[in-house]
Amino acid sequence: MQNIIEDLKKKFKEEMQKVSDKKLLEDLRVRYLGRNGELNKILRGLKELSEEERVQVGRYINEFKKEISELMETAEEKIKQMAEDFSKEWLDVTAPGAKLPQGHLHPRTIVLRKVEEIFQSLGFSVVDSREMETDYYNFQALNFPKDHPARDMQDTFYITDELLMRTQTSPNQVRYMEKHNPPLRIIVPGKVFRRDASDATHESQFYQVEGLMVDKHISIGHFKAVIGEFFSQLYGQKIKIRLRPSYFPFTEPSFEPDISCTFCDGRGCRICKNTGWLEMAGAGMVHPFVFKSAGYSPYEWQGFAFGFGLDRLVMMKYKINDMRVLNFGDLRFLKQF
Ligand code: PHE
Repeated sequence: MQNIIEDLKKKFKEEMQKVSDKKLLEDLRVRYLGRNGELNKILRGLKELSEEERVQVGRYINEFKKEISELMETAEEKIKQMAEDFSKEWLDVTAPGAKLPQGHLHPRTIVLRKVEEIFQSLGFSVVDSREMETDYYNFQALNFPKDHPARDMQDTFYITDELLMRTQTSPNQVRYMEKHNPPLRIIVPGKVFRRDASDATHESQFYQVEGLMVDKHISIGHFKAVIGEFFSQLYGQKIKIRLRPSYFPFTEPSFEPDISCTFCDGRGCRICKNTGWLEMAGAGMVHPFVFKSAGYSPYEWQGFAFGFGLDRLVMMKYKINDMRVLNFGDLRFLKQF
């Protein structure tokens, strides 16, 4: 008899483990403690036992009953707690989603992508490049005389005697031509560095886009056409080009292309200081010295090269009057794009 009760206890505890809600708990209670429950079945069988046994078994059963009620109570408490937790965790799957703040491209990146897209449509490849250069590629190969002011410690961040942070993207003219045969059309965008004090229109770090086209019979006319088409596409309006004579050691002749003012269409305004023109770049026909540096025959090949400041284009496109805001990382500024 004792064994039967022990087995029943074991079974009860096992079933108890599986109970997860009120309804199952009640079922369990009825099955054990109910009128026709397991315990009453045993009690009914007591008649056949001797007086002595009956007292003993009765005591067992009472203990068991007590145990069951206690376990039931704890289980009930647990179930109640679970229900409470669950209601706190309740999730409304029909609630409209909360909008997460979304990042976006920096205005400089937006303009650079547009620049690359336009030049690619004109058959130019976009070439990647290094920011740290050798004195050779940044200056010597580009025909900078030893006493050229751009080599001065005032302008260049030197790392060692031979290594420096490039002051222009032009070293990639020679770098690219050394590795590739003509004809070619490339642009090389990238960061350049100069030891300039920073103000509204100067930073010691800014972006240039270098351009180079080499083929047979390339003339200034080709340059004017390409750069004119580029600016017209960039600003979505017909842009006129004017070339002013200039000087760079690595182009001959050299010029600075101006574009007709995008704000007043050339009539003259505050932005273009009433000239109708805006300075845009440095450019020229590739100097024979540069072709020789790269191993090309200057008698066989001609080309034009140009370099313009990307930050300037960004400032003009978005009418920003201080270049420094492009580098501050100030969200109040950046969020406007
Ligand atoms: N590298 C020149 C500068 O930084 C610009 C330039 C590029 C001029 C290519 C001519 C040809 O001022």
